[in-house]
Order: sequence, then C-alpha cells, then structure tokens
Amino acid sequence: MQSTGNNNSGSVLVTGTSTGIGCAAVSTLANEGFHVFAGVRKPEDGEKVAVLAPPGRITPLIIDVTDPVSVSTAAAAVRTTLTTKNSFLAGIISNAGVGMIAPAPYLNEDILQYQTQTNLLGPMRLVRELLPIMQETLPGRNRRGRIYFVGTGAGIPSLVFPFLNIYMACKWGTEAFCQSLRLELQLLGEPIDVGMINPGFINTAMRGTTKNAVQGKVAIDARFGQTYGKLIQKFGEFGDRQRGTSPEVVAGKILEVMVAEKPRYRYRVGRDSFTTHLQALLPLGVQEWWIRQIYR
Ligand SMILES: NC(=O)c1ccc[n+]([C@@H]2O[C@H](COP(=O)([O-])OP(=O)(O)OC[C@H]3O[C@@H](n4cnc5c(N)ncnc54)[C@H](OP(=O)(O)O)[C@@H]3O)[C@@H](O)[C@H]2O)c1
Repeated sequence: MQSTGNNNSGSVLVTGTSTGIGCAAVSTLANEGFHVFAGVRKPEDGEKVAVLAPPGRITPLIIDVTDPVSVSTAAAAVRTTLTTKNSFLAGIISNAGVGMIAPAPYLNEDILQYQTQTNLLGPMRLVRELLPIMQETLPGRNRRGRIYFVGTGAGIPSLVFPFLNIYMACKWGTEAFCQSLRLELQLLGEPIDVGMINPGFINTAMRGTTKNAVQGKVAIDARFGQTYGKLIQKFGEFGDRQRGTSPEVVAGKILEVMVAEKPRYRYRVGRDSFTTHLQALLPLGVQEWWIRQIYR
C-alpha cells in the first residue's frame, strides 16, 4: 500500500463518523492527505471530528442516511465545496449502520423501518445523491473513484446467526446492491471501483453484546423472557468472548481502498471474518450444528 500524503488526493465522504470505524477512518484518511467530508448526525459530533487532523482537512457534514432531504442537502453542500476548492470526489464510504438483535416475531414496524432505512436504503440513497457528483468531478480517466460499503462478517457467504435476521438481511441486501452497481458502472466504462469492506467483531460501541439486544424498541413481554431470554443471553456471551479488532485496522483497509492502484472487490477485516467465511463453505447442516452449540 502506498500512502498518498498530498493535496491532489481529492475528497472522500464517509458516513457515520461520530464514533467507531467511521471516526477512525476520518482520522486516517485526513492525516494521509485526503480531504474528508465527515458525516455526522449532531453538530457537536462534527466539532469533535473536525479536530482529528490539521485544519481544513475535515469538513463535518450533517447526514442522516434515513432522511432523503438530509442526504440531498449534504450532497448539495459537497458539490458547492468541491466547486469552491476546484477538487473532486474520490471516494464514498458508506459506513453508517445500526446493530440489532431481535427474535423474528418481535420485528415490529419500528424495527423494520429503523433497520432497513439505516442499513439498506441509506447506502442506496447515498449513492443516488453522491455518484453523479463523483462522475462530474473526477479529473479524467487516470483518477479512479471508489465506492465502498461497510458490510458485516465475511460478507456472502458467512455464517448467519439467529436473531441477527434483519441486520443480516440488510447487509446482504447491500451486497447485492453493491454487485449490481459495480456492473452498472463497468458497462458504462466509468472509472469507478466498487466493493465491500467486511469487518468481523470490531471493538466499537456496536459490539454484539446483550446491551444491543432489541435496543428498547421491542415491547418485552413475559413470553419474550421465557422463550428467548436465555438464548439471547448466550449469544451476548458468545459476542463478549470474541477478542475483536480495533476500528483503526478497518480504517487502514479503507485507506488501502483509496490508495491501491487496483482495489480488490472485498476486504475482510479480523481473523473471525475469515473464519466465518471458511465455516460458511461447509455443508449447511454442519454450520447449523456449530451455531447451535453456542446457544446450549
Ligand atoms: N462493530 C462491529 O463489530 C461491526 C462488525 C461488522 C460490521 N460493522 C459495521 O460497521 C459500521 C460502523 O459501525 P461501528 O462498529 O463503528 O459502530 P458505531 O461506533 O456504533 O458507529 C455507528 C455510526 O453510524 C452512525 N449512524 C447510525 N444511524 C445513522 C443514521 N441514520 N444516519 C447516519 N449515521 C448514522 C452513528 O452515529 P450516531 O452517533 O449519531 O448514532 C455512528 O457514527 C456499521 O455499518 C456496522 O454495521 C460493525
């Protein structure tokens, strides 16, 4: 991997930068010479990320990916800033996401909206609004743009754990969107690389502990506790046993995406991401047997 470290690197937009992977990515990219549009939902988070690199390298931007107006307003601000700086949009990193553990019968409409709006429709909305700006501003065919999505686990295929139903469905849906977009751009001959970053367990606020279970969005009733309490607790304990990888390692992969001459389609991060991929190549019955042991 070659560091760019110069002012001709262009701009990269990252969503969900208040904490975790997104915050680490902003710091890494900006300190390696990229100008970064750092998507946050609260102005105070913008102030916090703006100081992660020398002045002028980071432009905080309010982006709530569930809100079409928020995304289009942010896109307009990106266009204006790039025009003023006579710069270009070199990268879009769709990172914002929310985790959730909930049994299927408890997936109420609030949860369905919350998960799909953030983890599935959000990334599509982002591309719809930002891709035209990348296409308009890329300076000639020797500069390639990058659009990468932060997925989960090994990507497809990987083990699918019970209670991660809607989260996994959204992340795998994003993978389908990613592959479709990649081919759309190839058919048009666009100089834009598209792919996935697949982290295993990363040591951020999202870690799959029981505190993320249902996130107060499920009206917990007696049946919930009786039927699912122990199973969800076991899953939480399994998550807690994983050593996890630091968000800075994921940020390093995002930098690699931006500076590699030919970025790969998929970047798995963390040993568990590779393990789950290998396990998912086993017959389904073997995978299911292994997963059931976690819940005993
Ligand atoms: N941590 C892991 O083990 C792990 C594993 C695999 C994949 N991932 C993926 O990695 C990505 C980053 O997660 P993380 O681990 O860094 O967790 P995190 O620290 O909880 O960060 C999530 C970020 O997403 C933002 N966000 C949430 N809803 C949003 C919305 N509607 N619009 C815009 N931003 C929103 C949050 O902002 P607020 O502060 O405003 O809520 C926060 O900045 C996610 O896509 C996640 O699915 C994480």
